[in-house]
Amino acid sequence: MNILLIGSGGREHAFAWKLKQSDRCSALFIAPGNAGTALCGTNLPLSVTDFRSIAKACVEHNIGMVVVGPEEPLVKGIYDFFAKDASVKHIPVIGPSAQAAQLEGSKSFAKAFMLRHGIPTAAYREFTAANYEEGIEYIREQALPVVLKADGLAAGKGVMICMNHLEALSEYELMIHSDKFGEAGKKVVVEEFLQGIELSVFALTDGEHYVILPSAKDYKRIGVGDTGLNTGGMGAVSPLPFADEAFLQRVNEKVIAPTIAGFKKDKLDYKGFVFIGLMNNQGEPYVIEYNCRMGDPETETVIPRIKNDLVALFEATSQQRLNEITMEVDPRTVATVVAVSGGYPEDYEKDKPISGLDRQLPDNSILFHCGTVQKAAEVVTNGGRVLAVTSFGNSITEAVQRSNDVLEHLYFEDLYFRNDIGYEFK
Ligand code: AMP
Ligand code: GLY
Repeated sequence: MNILLIGSGGREHAFAWKLKQSDRCSALFIAPGNAGTALCGTNLPLSVTDFRSIAKACVEHNIGMVVVGPEEPLVKGIYDFFAKDASVKHIPVIGPSAQAAQLEGSKSFAKAFMLRHGIPTAAYREFTAANYEEGIEYIREQALPVVLKADGLAAGKGVMICMNHLEALSEYELMIHSDKFGEAGKKVVVEEFLQGIELSVFALTDGEHYVILPSAKDYKRIGVGDTGLNTGGMGAVSPLPFADEAFLQRVNEKVIAPTIAGFKKDKLDYKGFVFIGLMNNQGEPYVIEYNCRMGDPETETVIPRIKNDLVALFEATSQQRLNEITMEVDPRTVATVVAVSGGYPEDYEKDKPISGLDRQLPDNSILFHCGTVQKAAEVVTNGGRVLAVTSFGNSITEAVQRSNDVLEHLYFEDLYFRNDIGYEFK
């Protein structure tokens, strides 16, 4: 089967790397891809939200399955577009419908879903210009810190953890009356701050059944010791010492099972990945957020641990046969460390030539490209997050050290990576 993968980051390179290993994948296309995915298949220069051109490419290349990496095309309805278009409706799309993708696209939708299905999450209320005054009262009554969230997609910046009421009221005012975050912030979710250790849990569902993938911890802050600005993710590790069998069983029982059952009850068309951001509060899981896709860099950590054929997993997903699948997971520890452009997550420059890419990698390490592009004979930087190195090890310390060592041999101007990924487990 020919497969089209949508997206261009480290997540997509990890998917491409794994899809290419399957006998069931005859040709792999990636739209638009990066310099790394070009090593696994053919990049097509298409925008991830240009559904008409994507459908045309599917016909032209006799595509038998579309796998969607990022949230934007999902929230904008790529699944629904394919379901309706006569030329491509026979092609399964791995990813939820636009309505189901609201779990990520709207915090308010996600919170109502959790409330309806008894899924543990932080207590909350939501406000708009219509009940603005009530919101002020509510915020004043909350214990600190208090969490404010723009309802819609805000490029990962829509969550504010406010340490005092004045700051919270000022952010609230900015969102509702001054267009901070535009439309996305016209509705504000105000919620309780959850204590505990955060982790990312992933399931793949066919709408009826599901399999659970390895869980991971993502390091979001730019600076060592989890300091500085939030980023898309600077590294990840899996498995997690604090997420033991008993806890993961509790997560399944309290969160994953009711989530998938909730899709069915609410008639949400969902055949794809569910990413659940969780807080482990003294052994009890609370959902922080849902994403309708895999995480980045978590995919670079989780996918190499999965021994199953990924195409077979996706076929079972589209044919609603995930109950026939048993997950096989590599017991070794994996750590991913991300190299970013100087200045990221604020302004940074692109087009910096990358050297060291031809060096033979140690057996235990894999190099994934994130924001890279081939320009003539050179691979140059093309984003904030540029490269991700994943390594296996017998411990978090060993896996992280191996990834750091590989990064020491790669170079572009102002390359930066956190050398302390997994620090709290060492
Ligand atoms: P999000 O954009 O939803 O991923 O949120 C960004 C980050 O804010 C999360 O990864 C958490 O670290 C933090 N966060 C969000 N909501 C809460 C909450 N209710 N309590 C504590 N931390 C939170
Ligand atoms: N690493 C977090 C995310 O992909 O949203």
